[in-house]
Amino acid sequence: MPDLYFKSSFTAMDQSPRKIGVLTSGGDSPGMNAALRAVVRSCAYHGLECVGIYRGYEGLREGDFKELDARSVKNIINRGGTFLKSARSKEFFTKEGRLQAFNHLKQASIDALVVIGGDGTFAGAAVFSKEFNFPIVGIPGTIDNDINGTDFTIGYDTALNTVVEAIDKIRDTANSHNRLFLVEVMGRDAGDIALNAGIGAGAEEILIPEEDLGKDRLLESLKRSKKSGKTSSIVVVSEGDQIGKNIFELAKFIEENLTEYEVRVTVLGHIQRGGAPSCYDRVLASRLGVGAVDALLRGEKNVMIGIVHNKVTSVPFEQAIKGENELDRELIRVADITSF
Ligand code: F6P
Repeated sequence: MPDLYFKSSFTAMDQSPRKIGVLTSGGDSPGMNAALRAVVRSCAYHGLECVGIYRGYEGLREGDFKELDARSVKNIINRGGTFLKSARSKEFFTKEGRLQAFNHLKQASIDALVVIGGDGTFAGAAVFSKEFNFPIVGIPGTIDNDINGTDFTIGYDTALNTVVEAIDKIRDTANSHNRLFLVEVMGRDAGDIALNAGIGAGAEEILIPEEDLGKDRLLESLKRSKKSGKTSSIVVVSEGDQIGKNIFELAKFIEENLTEYEVRVTVLGHIQRGGAPSCYDRVLASRLGVGAVDALLRGEKNVMIGIVHNKVTSVPFEQAIKGENELDRELIRVADITSF
């Protein structure tokens, strides 16, 4: 640690930063561009310089930087993806990789960072920030909504709307053919997308990683709804759910044990990560982007800016990435009752 520890120009970091670097990292999400725009324009508003870092921590390690001014982010609030591009960097998780990144920051006289991403992004930021006593503030950008210390992450609302729109279409054909559809949605460790989109799209069953329904109970429930007069069914399956080996194996199991239904599988995949951000995500991204620069100006570091009860707040990175995703029992009950 002491060999990497850098003090000189950063001991005075109790002073406000003068040049802020910004990057997007990990899986992209709709609204990241709106967050970048808010960070860049906040810097311009406060008379700070702003530098865009391409390809997340990969670009940071390689010094792939570009000066940004207020006009560099015109016409992007409505665009999905991230104009700075994103990556999942393995190298940044090595000491050597982080030292390379730090040297590039020093050379460019960047004295604080805003990182936009999910838990992997914040885990990297927490280590780097402590190792070099370097101020970093995070903004939660992931469709999974699996970050503590914020009620919502940027991109989640848009992804929900994409999923519901897709399932509405699947419902039409499911109904015409009296079929049962298994629809896989994203969420490696969290069932938020499945649960909320499942309720919004009127799914018969919702399978999430936080709760193991079991194949037999699933079968019973589908038989019950068939008996009650339903002619087609939609089951939303979170990609992290463990009920079967995979969704195709689960489909086979259902078809063999519930012969009244033909079963079809749709894996929605990366379409959930693209598209124009919803108004909610644009406003959230704008608030968190402004909040991140405000936090740096207040001298905060090693924190993530989030939204809790509609107020912009901050929590230490360690708290944001810690722990299991909490299951909302009320939503499970609503899903059970409304699919009756
Ligand atoms: O983190 C968001 C996410 O979309 C997860 O839901 C999904 O499991 C993962 O990223 C997919 O990652 P990749 O795009 O690297 O395949």
